[in-house]
Amino acid sequence: MTTVLVTGGAGYIGTHTDVELLNKGYDVISIDNYGNSSPEALERVKTITGKEVKRYDGDVRDEKLMNRIFEENDVDWVIHFAGLKAVGESVAKPIEYYDNNLTGTMVLLKAMRDHDVKKIIFSSSATVYGAAEHLPLTEESPIGGTTNPYGTSKLFQEQILRDVYVADDSWTIVLLRYFNPVGAHSSGLLGEDPKGIPANLTPYIAKVALGELKEVQVYGNDYPTPDGTGVRDYIHVVDLAKGHVAVIDKIDNPGVYTYNLGTGHGYSVLEVIKAYEKAAGHKIPYVIKPRRPGDIAACYADSSKAERELGWKAELGIDEMAASSLNWQTKNPKGFRKD
Ligand code: NAD
Ligand code: WQD
Repeated sequence: MTTVLVTGGAGYIGTHTDVELLNKGYDVISIDNYGNSSPEALERVKTITGKEVKRYDGDVRDEKLMNRIFEENDVDWVIHFAGLKAVGESVAKPIEYYDNNLTGTMVLLKAMRDHDVKKIIFSSSATVYGAAEHLPLTEESPIGGTTNPYGTSKLFQEQILRDVYVADDSWTIVLLRYFNPVGAHSSGLLGEDPKGIPANLTPYIAKVALGELKEVQVYGNDYPTPDGTGVRDYIHVVDLAKGHVAVIDKIDNPGVYTYNLGTGHGYSVLEVIKAYEKAAGHKIPYVIKPRRPGDIAACYADSSKAERELGWKAELGIDEMAASSLNWQTKNPKGFRKD
């Protein structure tokens, strides 16, 4: 029986990954401080799968707790999702971001090493490519040039993990660079639950579609893209979750492995709004606003390495992303809150 410790296991990508792991027969342990999630999300995982996630409520920066988790369980793999992820907030709170993301990773790695658990999947991001010169992005594309502490923390964490392998080549280190994860579980029980007004495009569109917000603000229509609006590689969160399972199923040997997880297809902001209009069955109002500082024109993946080596490929398209996101938002207008 393979046991997977999922840090941030109650979060958006974490819960969807818990489901896919449990459905494949893996044992799942979650450690989460619920700073950006709720234990209710793990109850939903149980409702979907009929299986229990073993829960540790606490912080990955808590050395005692991390050591206890490895003492009490025979962990085979760690998937490290726990981290702060809001780009704008990271600019305002660099100390909190570097502390949470870097200290969390250091404490986790120390506990892993001390308990001889040396297989880790790390949640990296397409943000490590900075402002790319050539598209699509392959794993060989240059990294660096990040413009905010969030992105820089991902870059640093990747480097720390590569250095760990240089010092001890018995580690298996898998860096997964996610593109833009969107959508929700088909049950409508799990989805993204951002606090306050969403900063990211698709949760914002969903709230406009349901009448909770007035109109979508389209940040710039003068980019060198087909319709002038920003282009991104949106990937369904369930496909992304399956990418983690594919790693655990396929990778047997120590090494450092890096994979882009995207669909390979870019959609513009206006195309995404259209997909949501189709799913909602009505028009979604939007206004054109100036460009958002720090944004790039276009970003999409070459994910063929993951397909070749892991046998993984994104299967769900923009219509499924929009429909599942609206289904989740309609059924859970307050997210996981019950009041
Ligand atoms: P999320 O905020 O929903 O999940 C992160 C989880 O980690 C939350 O449940 C949070 O409470 C928990 N957490 C944070 N710091 C913690 C700590 N110190 N100790 C214990 N728990 C802690 O975010 P997500 O979208 O599921 O992202 C998961 C990972 O994927 C993050 O590392 C994020 O940076 C990365 N990522 C996300 C995206 C995206 O757009 N969603 C894109 C690329 C990479
Ligand atoms: C998508 C597109 C915006 C909001 C961010 C992080 C990245 C990764 C994923 C973690 C862009 C436009 C947005 C709005 C808009 N996260 N937009 N109106 O910026 O590609 O990526 O999340 O690793 O690191 O930077 O995602 O959803 O914010 O924006 O027009 O209200 O939508 O300009 O073109 P982004 P996003």
